Amino acid sequence: AEKKGRVEFRDVTFKYPGAEAPVLSNISFTAEPGKTLAIIGSTGAGKTTLVSLLPRLYDVASGDVLLDGVPVTKMDASEITSRVSAVPQKPYLFSGTIEHNLRFGKPDATDDELWDALETAQAKGFVEEKSSGLNRRIAQGGTNVSGGQRQRLSIARALVTKPNVYLFDDSFSALDVATDARLRKALKAKTRDATVIIVAQRVSTIADADEILVLDNGRIVDRGTHDELLETSPTYQEIVES
Ligand code: GTP
Ligand code: MG
Repeated sequence: AEKKGRVEFRDVTFKYPGAEAPVLSNISFTAEPGKTLAIIGSTGAGKTTLVSLLPRLYDVASGDVLLDGVPVTKMDASEITSRVSAVPQKPYLFSGTIEHNLRFGKPDATDDELWDALETAQAKGFVEEKSSGLNRRIAQGGTNVSGGQRQRLSIARALVTKPNVYLFDDSFSALDVATDARLRKALKAKTRDATVIIVAQRVSTIADADEILVLDNGRIVDRGTHDELLETSPTYQEIVES
């Protein structure tokens, strides 16, 4: 069967409601199932805004956002949430157990599926370390869990739903470099058929991506692989050196 999860942005321009200037201008790219697309750029470049358009946190005023050729504006929310899992830049956990938090997108997931997702997200040891395990309580806002653990639980939650498209918005930044590398290796093995879009601050997180978009001031200024961009993109070189 043909893999699902092809994401296409066609000449997308976006303005926040009430704002004067667009924060994204003429954005066009395609992300294919089985591949990793990375987005890098300085703070305020528009990365979070860009990834928020696929799950329709906002709708575009001009251009199209398509999932397998269908504009997302023609899909209902339940179809999008079952096919696209977004790990937000500021992950949220509910007050409740770890299990409740992990089952959020897929209430009928088995315990094995939860543990499998935790293992991939490098969060299994953290859940196992208390005898309460999956029944461990998370405080409101996840305040009894560290930032890195919040990120990993949020990644595990996305994995449980087995979507066609994963969006990771700066999801690896609170992890040390070794854990980041381990997690992404495990992730790659588990998401082989899916489309993976990674927003990152660190070049090491995205150096092996199939394509990297360099975003600056709401525009894609350069695109290519890590090696190509090292040769051709002054903006990318600046990020590498920073
Ligand atoms: P970092 O996460 O800091 O690396 O930045 P980013 O690249 O994710 O930028 P983001 O998409 O968050 O912001 C792009 C621009 O949109 C910035 O100028 C923000 O100030 C602006 N912006 C972000 N969110 C909102 C919003 O909800 N309303 C309005 N009016 N502007 C916003
Ligand atoms: Mg952001």
